[in-house]
Amino acid sequence: MNELRATRALISGGASGIGLAIAEALASQGVELVLVSRRLGLLEQEAARLQGRYGVRVLPLTLDLCDGAQVRARYTETRERLGPIDLLVNNSGVGSDYLVQDLPESEWDRVMDTCAKGTFLLTQACLPDMLAHRHGTIINIASQAAKNGYARASVYCAAKFAVLGFAKALREEVQHQGIRVHTLCPGLVQVPPPACPGERKPGWLQVEDLAEAVLYTLRQPAHVQLDEIGMTGI
Ligand SMILES: NC(=O)c1ccc[n+]([C@@H]2O[C@H](COP(=O)([O-])OP(=O)(O)OC[C@H]3O[C@@H](n4cnc5c(N)ncnc54)[C@H](OP(=O)(O)O)[C@@H]3O)[C@@H](O)[C@H]2O)c1
Repeated sequence: MNELRATRALISGGASGIGLAIAEALASQGVELVLVSRRLGLLEQEAARLQGRYGVRVLPLTLDLCDGAQVRARYTETRERLGPIDLLVNNSGVGSDYLVQDLPESEWDRVMDTCAKGTFLLTQACLPDMLAHRHGTIINIASQAAKNGYARASVYCAAKFAVLGFAKALREEVQHQGIRVHTLCPGLVQVPPPACPGERKPGWLQVEDLAEAVLYTLRQPAHVQLDEIGMTGI
């Protein structure tokens, strides 16, 4: 048993960027993983690497988390092959770069569905097992755009505000049933990570900073409630 409040984690977008860094940190602590996103080749490559390096089971599953039926089917598959999930990291997300007057309706749907609806769907799929065991943690990767407005990012801000609001409401529903809900609100994070320390952008967070914050939340004692965690690089 590792020292974290997690034994089996599902990470959306877990094969790239921030999600992969979180996956690496959890695997290093002995947590079994399910990595979900749309690119099977990348998922399989990173799952095999993590499994080989840390000796934990890592299951790669393709999933478009905008599709509710797919989300529910993948969770059932996860449960059958690995067991119930006690840590969900809602990390998948997409950005957008439009002035409001130019923003296509399809782009609004794409960003809202990926960031906000996907967070809801995955949470809803994982919750019954967590509630049944009165044990579980849900960590959402939101953004500083969940708390501030930025020009050319209206739908991204709307989606990340939605994630934060959803998380606050969810916490009220489940916090007395053994389930924790945390939301990380990072500023700019260097993705993909630099090849060497010399290529680090000043003032940007690194993906490892987010991974470390996830481990920190999972090490808190049972009586400590961490809600949202703002993070910015200096
Ligand atoms: N980088 C930053 O500066 C920054 C700052 C604050 C917050 N964030 C947030 O951090 C999270 C991770 O972003 P990142 O920077 O690490 O970029 P990233 O590497 O592009 O990660 C985004 C992930 O989302 C997955 N994804 C996108 N659409 C999906 C869908 N429909 N179904 C399933 N998975 C989907 C992608 O995988 P596939 O393409 O294979 O599906 C990818 O793995 C995002 O929520 C982002 O908003 C990033």
